[in-house]
Amino acid sequence: MSSNTKEIDLSQYPYMDKGLEGIVAFSSRKSFIDGQKGELYYAGYDIDTLARNSTFEEVCFLLWHERLPNKSELDSLNTTLREERDLPAEVLTYLRTANKASEPMSVLRTAVSMLADSDPESADTSAEATLRKSVRLTAKLPAIIAGFDRSREGKEILAPLKKKSIAYDFLYMLNGEEPGENAERVMDVLLITHAEHGMNASTFTCRSICATMSDLHSAVTGAIGSLKGPLHGGANTAVMNMLLQLDKDTDIIEFVKGKLERKEKIMGFGHRVYKTYDPRAKFLRTMAKDLASEVDMEYLYEWSESIVKVMKEEKNIDPNVDFFSATVYYSMGIKPDLYTTIFAMARVSGWTAHYLEQLAKNRLIRPRLLYLGERDLEYTPVESR
Ligand code: SDX
Repeated sequence: MSSNTKEIDLSQYPYMDKGLEGIVAFSSRKSFIDGQKGELYYAGYDIDTLARNSTFEEVCFLLWHERLPNKSELDSLNTTLREERDLPAEVLTYLRTANKASEPMSVLRTAVSMLADSDPESADTSAEATLRKSVRLTAKLPAIIAGFDRSREGKEILAPLKKKSIAYDFLYMLNGEEPGENAERVMDVLLITHAEHGMNASTFTCRSICATMSDLHSAVTGAIGSLKGPLHGGANTAVMNMLLQLDKDTDIIEFVKGKLERKEKIMGFGHRVYKTYDPRAKFLRTMAKDLASEVDMEYLYEWSESIVKVMKEEKNIDPNVDFFSATVYYSMGIKPDLYTTIFAMARVSGWTAHYLEQLAKNRLIRPRLLYLGERDLEYTPVESR
C-alpha cells in the first residue's frame, strides 16, 4: 500500500462496500424481496399467487403499470405482443449467418442491439415511446432465441404463429411443433418466476444506462451482458453442466465436499439477499420433481435433492432460482446453453419496467472511487525508463 493510501480517511466513505452489499441505490414500486422470510412480491402481488393464477403477459402489464390490467387492457396488450413478434430482415439475416459456435447469450445481445436500427422510435426516450418499445422488445426476444437455435442446427427459422401466448409461440418456434397445454403452462410459469427481482446486477446495469439518458435498446443490451455472467443468470446453464458431469455411481456427498474444499462455488446456490430458501426455487423444485419424473429423468431431481442436502449441512446455503429451473428446462428438452436466454426473455419485462421508473425520476448514477494509487509521481520520458 502506498504512503498516500495510508493518509486516506476512510470515515469519509461510510457507505463503501465491495459488492455494494446492503446499499440502497434506488427506490422502486416494481418488486419487494424479504430476504429473511423468503418472500417476493411483484408490485404488491406475491410470487406464488402470480405463478399459480397469472400469465406472463399479465405480469408484464403489472410490472410496467404497477397494477393488474382489466380484461380489455389485457386483450389489447396480448394483441400487440402477438403482432410485434416478427423480426426485421437484417436480424433474420444475422441469425442465419452468425457463427454457429457462438454462445446464444452473445447472439441475443447483438440481435437486441440490432433491433434499435429498425425501431422507428429507438432514439425517443419519452415515457410513451419507451413503453411501446418495451412491448416490442418483449415480443421479439423469443423469435431471436428460437431463430438462432434452429439456424445453428441447420434448420429453417420459423415465423411466429401469433395466435397464442409468448410461451406457446416460443416453444413452437424452437421445436417446430405446437406445444401442448402443459408445456405452454410450464414455460409461462418459468417466465413469470424470472420476470423481476429488485436491484439485481442486470437491472442495476439497465438503470445506470437509462440514467445517462441513453435509449432503451442500449440499456437492455447492457443488461443482457450483465445477466450472462455465471454469478448471475448464467448460473442456470452452469448448474446443468454440473449435473451432467454426474452419473449413477457418483458419490454426491464427496462430489460437493470436494468442490467446497477446492473453494469452488456450487452453481445455483447462495444469494445476496435471501438468507433462506428463494421462494422461486421452492416453486421450481416441485415443477422439477414432476417434470423429471414425467420424462423418466427422476435421477436428475434426486441428484439435485442430494446436493441441496449436502449444501445445507456443510454451508447452510439454500438453492436459488437457477438451481431447479435447470432441471425443469432439461426435462422439457431444452439445450443447456439456452437457459440464460430464456431468463433474459422473461427479465426483459423487469428491465424495461425499471427503465420506465428510472426515467420518471432520473438522476445520473455517478458514484465515487476510493483511489489506492500514488499521487504526484515524477514523469520520466519513455527513453529514460
Ligand atoms: C441470480 O440478485 C438477484 O436478484 C439475482 C437473481 C435474479 O433474479 O436476478 O436472483 C438471479 O443471479 C441468482 C444467483 C446465481 N448465481 C449462482 O448460483 C452462482 C453461485 N452463487 C454464488 O457465487 C453466490 O452465492 C452469489 C454470487 C449468488 C452471491 O454472492 P455474494 O453475496 O457476494 O456472497 P459470497 O460469494 O461473498 O459468499 C458468502 C459466503 C462465502 O463463504 P465464506 O467465505 O464467508 O466462508 O458464502 C459462500 C462463499 O464462499 N458461498 C458459497 C456459494 N455461495 C456463497 N459457497 C459455495 N457455493 C456457493 N454457491
